[in-house]
Amino acid sequence: MNKWIKNLLFILIIISIYNLFEGCSINSNETKEIKIGITLYKQEDPFISFVAEAIEECAKEKEIKGNYKITVNIVDAKGNLTTQNNQVDKFISQDYDVICVNIVDRTAASTIINKAKDADIPLIFFNREPVEEDMQLWNKVYYVGADAEESGRLQGEIFVDEYKNNKSFIDKNGDGKIQYVMLEGEPEHQDSLIRTDCCIKTIVNNDIEVEKLADDTANWQNAQAYEKMTQWINEFGNNIEVVFSNNDDMALGAIHALENANIDIKNRPIVIGIDGIPDALYQIKDGNMTGTVYNDYKSQGKAILDIAYSLAMFGNTDYLTNITNENYVKTSYKKITKENVDDYIKKLK
Ligand code: BGC
Ligand code: CA
Repeated sequence: MNKWIKNLLFILIIISIYNLFEGCSINSNETKEIKIGITLYKQEDPFISFVAEAIEECAKEKEIKGNYKITVNIVDAKGNLTTQNNQVDKFISQDYDVICVNIVDRTAASTIINKAKDADIPLIFFNREPVEEDMQLWNKVYYVGADAEESGRLQGEIFVDEYKNNKSFIDKNGDGKIQYVMLEGEPEHQDSLIRTDCCIKTIVNNDIEVEKLADDTANWQNAQAYEKMTQWINEFGNNIEVVFSNNDDMALGAIHALENANIDIKNRPIVIGIDGIPDALYQIKDGNMTGTVYNDYKSQGKAILDIAYSLAMFGNTDYLTNITNENYVKTSYKKITKENVDDYIKKLK
């Protein structure tokens, strides 16, 4: 073979190998488009909006690095499962590469899974975990979230540490028992009951006596928590020593109620949440909230995007190391108190 042709062939082979690894088509002018559809149970839920933002940010970063366009289409189901099913139908009819579902009713995932399976479009559920039976309906179904037990345990530990250092401040009536109220998330959500149980168990296992004054659901919502807390303040007055909340948004509602009731900061119960959303970080910084448990929405967003990208590009997730055999990614929680809150505030900028 002519030497010149040999060289040309060699160069062509190198270019094709390079393109293969970059995941691009041989014609580098042709941009591949990846279409990711995302349906949120409720976009106004602050925690969920931060997960969605994290997904979008990761998509932008990835797009800058590679030769492809990543379209992320986020739609809001506004708490309505029928709306959400229609949104999924639309993504399917528009031939999206991957569909991500923050499901309204986590016990009703099978309908969505069967539809996606028929169309062969992989699904990533997140934050609201389908039951195991449904997860096993198809091997292209993934879940990204976090372990509820861990968050409850860490919330309990924040309390235990604080109590050991500030017994007389927390146990205001000095009876050696902790009078508390508990604000709970939606009753059907996998995180609500487990967070409540694990938090209280951790405290009791540390030989601290507790007395529950009240617990009730505020459905993860600030406004409902404000109402509940106002009611409890009227009922129990200064007897409430601790407010535990299954998430930060409800904790913020409780703080608002305490402020509104004009209870002096010295006489207020301490408040501990879960999530580490920015407003809660500022309340910790200002001393109105004792602590929270970071629910790593940034890593969750990244995991969702990584899985979606990998499925769209390669049809599998083989090179991702953080996924279990059963297609789960669970990020770990971290405690946030006044000691380390600045580290988290810095990361917001
Ligand atoms: C978060 C809550 C959020 C809920 C929504 C929970 O994991 O902690 O803040 O409202 O998910 O599904
Ligand atoms: Ca007490």
